[in-house]
Amino acid sequence: MQNVVILGTGGTIAGTGTDPDRSWQYRAAQLSVAQLVDAVPGLAGMALETIQVAQVDSKDMGWAVWRALGSELQRQLAREDVAGVVITHGTDTLEETAYLLHRLVGARKPVVLTAAMRPATASDADGPANLRDAVRVVQGASHRGLGGVVAVMQGCIWAAEQVRKAHSSALNAFDGGGHAPLAVLDEQGQWRQAASSWPVCGDVDWSVLSPARCPRVEILYSHADADGWLVEAVLAYRESHGPLDGLILAGTGHGTLHKGLEGGLSKAVARGVTVWRSSRVARGGVASREGDVFPACGELTPAQARVALMLYLMGV
Ligand code: SIN
Repeated sequence: MQNVVILGTGGTIAGTGTDPDRSWQYRAAQLSVAQLVDAVPGLAGMALETIQVAQVDSKDMGWAVWRALGSELQRQLAREDVAGVVITHGTDTLEETAYLLHRLVGARKPVVLTAAMRPATASDADGPANLRDAVRVVQGASHRGLGGVVAVMQGCIWAAEQVRKAHSSALNAFDGGGHAPLAVLDEQGQWRQAASSWPVCGDVDWSVLSPARCPRVEILYSHADADGWLVEAVLAYRESHGPLDGLILAGTGHGTLHKGLEGGLSKAVARGVTVWRSSRVARGGVASREGDVFPACGELTPAQARVALMLYLMGV
């Protein structure tokens, strides 16, 4: 039997509180990934290995954890005796990690991110079922020869490039930005999917995650009264405090921006800052059109677009 490796990074799935009925009072990232596995009866006796890569509330995610996760993931996926990998993660930035991994992991083996909206001590804790499902999906995918990165939450398998947190508190918090899940699990963890493969980008050497300096890319909102003041401030600050390499605009509608922002962003481009446009709207994204001044980011959320621009600036 091949092993499934479970990499722990923290999150609410590993969170604990004192009152099972006040699930909002807790601290994320308290239990080890080994403890999470031990608490799921359906995983008993399976060929599982756990590795604690990090222990963070994912609101604090960053390149240091991504690098550690990337190198451990690469090591585990290269093992002949490993069928695939589950990653336990916080829900808050899961869409960013999922998109990053999607861009870097090839199609050879399944990699499944999972999380929870309630801490492990809550009376309605969703982590155990999500973790059990994630392991089942790795096993099922490996059996079918499927590889690539997906997220499994509440019985749905989401494509890593589409998945996003769409509700701040509901158990059913994730969606695909208007796209259906790749598949839905039945009560035995079986699934059928319309397509015969998972979306993949290709294998990239993880050493790209260790440049001397990561590009700095920030996100800027367009909104009522956005007069460019913030862009001017950022450009002035950049003069004295070091580089700004890219800006993601979270634009209105189809990536439009307040006329007050246009001059500032053009000035940023003239000074060597790469500016891309996404949308602050939940569905539809921003398609490229003739005459675009700032390139469009398709259906990526602004946070995923930031990852995409960082990879672009790293030459990936
Ligand atoms: C986190 O993202 O680590 C905390 C919130 C969550 O997992 O739901």
